[in-house]
Amino acid sequence: MTGRVALVTGGNGGIGTPVCIALASAGYRVVTTCMDAEAENITDWQAQLRKEGHEVGYVECNVADYESCQRMAAEVEREHGPVDVLVNLAGITRDGFLHKMAAEDWSAVIKVNLDSVFNVTRQFVTGMRERGFGRIVNVSSVNGQTGQFGQSNYSASKAGMHGFTMALAKEGARKGVTANTVSPGYVETSMTAAIADEVRQQIIAQVPAGRMAKPEEIARVIVFLAADESAYINGANIPVNGAQFCSF
Ligand code: CAA
Repeated sequence: MTGRVALVTGGNGGIGTPVCIALASAGYRVVTTCMDAEAENITDWQAQLRKEGHEVGYVECNVADYESCQRMAAEVEREHGPVDVLVNLAGITRDGFLHKMAAEDWSAVIKVNLDSVFNVTRQFVTGMRERGFGRIVNVSSVNGQTGQFGQSNYSASKAGMHGFTMALAKEGARKGVTANTVSPGYVETSMTAAIADEVRQQIIAQVPAGRMAKPEEIARVIVFLAADESAYINGANIPVNGAQFCSF
């Protein structure tokens, strides 16, 4: 049991829930951010996890907004203590071909998926450096590595995330702070459920594993990277995509 504090942005979502469970099971004191506690029924979500034996705190935060992140960080550290592990997971899609994409759909995705990584990480990185320990895990996507139809905004945000990871890895390496990216393929969540059936079947047909990932299969890698023992894994991108995209 580590007793370390782990913060997961968007931890009450499809991938986030098993991430929170896996971290809590490994002994972390886990806190999630959510946008709107009431609209997201966060207390029901929390009660369900508690029933299953997992205690997870929550704090409201708009990760796209810097000041909201400042307030969130102050609250988390006041209530739970310094954050040792940060999982930047909150993300959205606004899919559409570029020739049809509205400017708002570009900005919303860049703000929520990429600006958020700066907004949130900026609040915790100084403390991690001072304490000589930190684990930052950025959840990107196979579509940031390969591009995808209808996702110029999303692919740009997810590719940008790994540039951020690599720079931060170098900055933190002598201070015990690692930064890594996990790039899931298609995962069974509400995000992929929103893809039209026919298109989804075409996508699955291109995955050598012949199926989507289960969210728990992503959580497994995040917990691995968060561990104290993962100190020398830094600046890496770990794909979890059923061999959909293999690279060296
Ligand atoms: N592969 C091959 N062809 C594709 C394609 C694909 N993945 N996506 C679209 N096309 C083709 C269509 O077959 C169609 O071809 P024809 O004109 O010859 O018929 C053409 O592009 C236009 O497609 P649509 O009629 O669907 O056009 P649209 O404007 O209504 O929608 C789209 C386009 C938004 C790209 C839509 O097809 C779509 O939503 N595709 C899925 C995008 C996707 O994979 N999103 C991932 C969401 S999950 C996620 O992002 C999580 C993660 O990290 C993996």
